[in-house]
Amino acid sequence: ILDLEGTNYTYTPGQSAGVVPPGVDETSQKAHNVRLYSVASSLLAPEPGYENRKTVMLCVKRVKDKHWDDASKLYSGVCSNFICDLKPGDSVQLTGPAGKHFALPENTFDYNYILFATGTGIAPFRAFLREMEAAGGIPDRAKVWLFFGVRFDNEILYDAEFKALAAKYPNFFYRVSQSRTMQNPDGSRKYVQHMLLDYATETLPLLQLPNTRIYICGLKGMETGIADSIKKLATDAGVDGDTLLAQATQKERYFEEVY
Ligand code: FAD
Ligand code: A2P
Repeated sequence: ILDLEGTNYTYTPGQSAGVVPPGVDETSQKAHNVRLYSVASSLLAPEPGYENRKTVMLCVKRVKDKHWDDASKLYSGVCSNFICDLKPGDSVQLTGPAGKHFALPENTFDYNYILFATGTGIAPFRAFLREMEAAGGIPDRAKVWLFFGVRFDNEILYDAEFKALAAKYPNFFYRVSQSRTMQNPDGSRKYVQHMLLDYATETLPLLQLPNTRIYICGLKGMETGIADSIKKLATDAGVDGDTLLAQATQKERYFEEVY
C-alpha cells in the first residue's frame, strides 16, 4: 500500500501504476526503465486502517529466476524486488497511471462480467470489486463470475475478501483453480479456462448475452486457452464455436491485459 496523500496522483481500477526503480541498469548504465503494476485498489474504497488517506495498493510478485549467465545463481528482478523490499516510510517514484481500455464501463451494472485472473492478474479484479462495492454493491440484475488460477492454495490472494462477497451476493460466483493440486479428467493441470467448461450450464448462456463482458489479466498466453474453451463450450452444446468466439471477443466486450 503506497500513501498518495498530498500528491495529485489519481487512478481508476484497471489502470497500472508505473514504478521507477532507483539506480541504473548495469549493462547500459542508464536509469532503469519504469515497470507497470496493476492497481489493486479503488480510490472510492479506502483500505482498512487507511480510512482517511489516499492510497494505492499494488500486488507484486517477487521475480527470482535462474541467471542467464550462470544457472547456479539467481537473478533478482529489479523492480519487483525493490518494491517487495520497501520498508514503511520509504519513498517510491510513480509514473502514470497508464491504461484506458481495461476498465469498468459507465453504467457498470448494466453488464455481466466473466473475469479471468492468473497470479497477480487478480489485482485489477480486486480493484473492480472494491469499486463495485463502493458503488452500492452488485445488484441482482448483474452476474459476475471470477475465475482465479493459482498453483497452490497459499497463493490465493484476497481469498477471504472474495469469499465474503460470494456469501453476500448470490450473483457473484468465485471459483479458484489450483493447477498443481487439481486436474482435469484427462489428467492435465486445471487452469482458469477449464473452469469455464466446468460451469458450462451457467457460462454458455451468459456468454451468449450481448451485455456480457470478458476481462482477462495475468500470464501472457492464457488468452489462447480461454479462446479455445469458448469455442469448445459452444461446440459441446451444438452451437457454432467460431460464431460464439467472434461475438464474445468483440472489442466492446472483450478486454485483455497479459504480461
Ligand atoms: P526485470 O529485472 O525487469 O526482469 C524481467 C524478466 O527478465 C524476468 O523474468 C527476469 O527473470 C528476466 N531476466 C532479466 N535479466 C536476466 C538475467 N540476467 N538472468 C535471468 N533472467 C533475467 N507484475 C506484478 O507482479 N503485479 C502486477 O500487478 C503487474 N501488472 C502488470 C501490468 C502490466 C500492464 C504489465 C505490462 C506488467 C505488469 N506486471 C505486474 C509485470 C511487471 O511490470 C514487471 O515486468 C515484473 O515485476 C518484473 O519486473 P522486474 O524489474 O522485477 O524484473
Ligand atoms: P502452472 O504453473 O501450474 O502450469 P504463476 O504462478 O506463474 O503466476 O501462474 C499462475 C497460474 O497460471 C498457475 O496456476 C499456472 O499453472 C497457470 N498457468 C500457466 N500457464 C497457463 C496458461 N497458458 N493458461 C492458463 N493458466 C496458466
